[in-house]
Amino acid sequence: MEAAFLQGLLGSSSLLLGALLGIVWQPRRSLAAAILAFGSGTLIAAIAFEIALNALQSSGFWPVGIGFFLGGILFVGITRYVDRQGGFLRKPASQRRHLFQYRQEAVSEVLGRMGDVELLRRLPPHELQAIAPLLKPLRVAANTVLCQEGAPGDSLYIILAGEAEVRKGEQIMATLGPGEVIGEMALLTGEPRSATVIAHSAMDLYQLRQQDFQRLLGFSPHLVGTLSRTLAHRLQATTESRAQAERERDRWQRQVLESIELDLPQGEERLLLQQLAKNSAPFAILIGTLIDNIPESAVIGITAQQDFLGGSFLLAVFISNFPEALSSTVGMKQTGTSPRRILSLWSGVVILSGVCALLGNLFASQTSGVVIGIAQAISGGAILAMLTSTMMPQAYELGGATVAFSTIAGFLMGLWVSFPQV
Ligand code: CMP
Repeated sequence: MEAAFLQGLLGSSSLLLGALLGIVWQPRRSLAAAILAFGSGTLIAAIAFEIALNALQSSGFWPVGIGFFLGGILFVGITRYVDRQGGFLRKPASQRRHLFQYRQEAVSEVLGRMGDVELLRRLPPHELQAIAPLLKPLRVAANTVLCQEGAPGDSLYIILAGEAEVRKGEQIMATLGPGEVIGEMALLTGEPRSATVIAHSAMDLYQLRQQDFQRLLGFSPHLVGTLSRTLAHRLQATTESRAQAERERDRWQRQVLESIELDLPQGEERLLLQQLAKNSAPFAILIGTLIDNIPESAVIGITAQQDFLGGSFLLAVFISNFPEALSSTVGMKQTGTSPRRILSLWSGVVILSGVCALLGNLFASQTSGVVIGIAQAISGGAILAMLTSTMMPQAYELGGATVAFSTIAGFLMGLWVSFPQV
């Protein structure tokens, strides 16, 4: 029994090593990819030659098949739940997946309302997707001043409902209604507000802040096109001379060209992640990390008393855990988790892995070979699910197609460890 506990600790101890290394050193992308892929290859071999073969011998094909599926379903179900509570922060792959989902939800909410706005409806889908998360719904009361003549411009507005009056001095220049844009001129030209705009009634608006607008200009040519037509039209009516209108348009064109040079900052994603991280529970990260490791520890515990398994599976787990913790730690560091918290998290996981191995051993000593086989198959399915949903996609993302070779090398290493005598 103590042997199972110790083996559980040993198998997962490389998590701590990986985490320690991840705190002081950030491996090059290609190296991180190769290590992750190698670990994945060893685990695949361990699942095939250690878990599946043994389970097959003791329980037969169908129980093993059902067990594998059950393991997969359990892993996916629990991981989804834990990710929703904030556990997605434990790995770069799950971070990106969550970010993607978060964006999709934000976009679909806004897209529903965007259909009513002529300007937005005409935009191609990829431009709409870029714009949607940046539009903030806003409700203002009648008589709210949206733009003050002469003041600097900080936002533009798209009218969803209600009307606004455009005034220049005493003169009413226009009344704007649903689907029309307010405040684009100052943002496009960099000049102060050309007129005062006051809500005539209560209004529903979308607000687009200046810094977001500037970024959009670089990759939304249709938005630029539509707004430039509106601008040209209004400039002539608002500014004193045609020459001035042309000067302002030239200046705006230069500004747009400059913004095209700018890349969408990478830091944006990091900021969003840090924001999301603030709302997440550290407990969810711990559970999520643990879920990735429970199946392996359970198998270690179950097989600790069988002499035909033992060392080789343990070695595969040890090898695969190292890159897992290394890459997770780098991801956690990026979202602002302190080294102390990272280390205590992994230490907790190592100890709990020992406990899981102990429980697995206890379970195995009280049950028949058939049930043990099924339990191994469930763990195998869960490990396979973990591999395909986190470790392997992350390796590919980091290193591209060449990770195949590290995976093959890891697989061969697993094969050799499983059948050293052949
Ligand atoms: P901006 O100059 O940023 O602030 C005042 C806004 O009033 C301006 O952008 C336009 O959105 C709007 N505006 C100015 N002149 C006209 C006009 N002639 N017709 C319609 N809208 C205008």
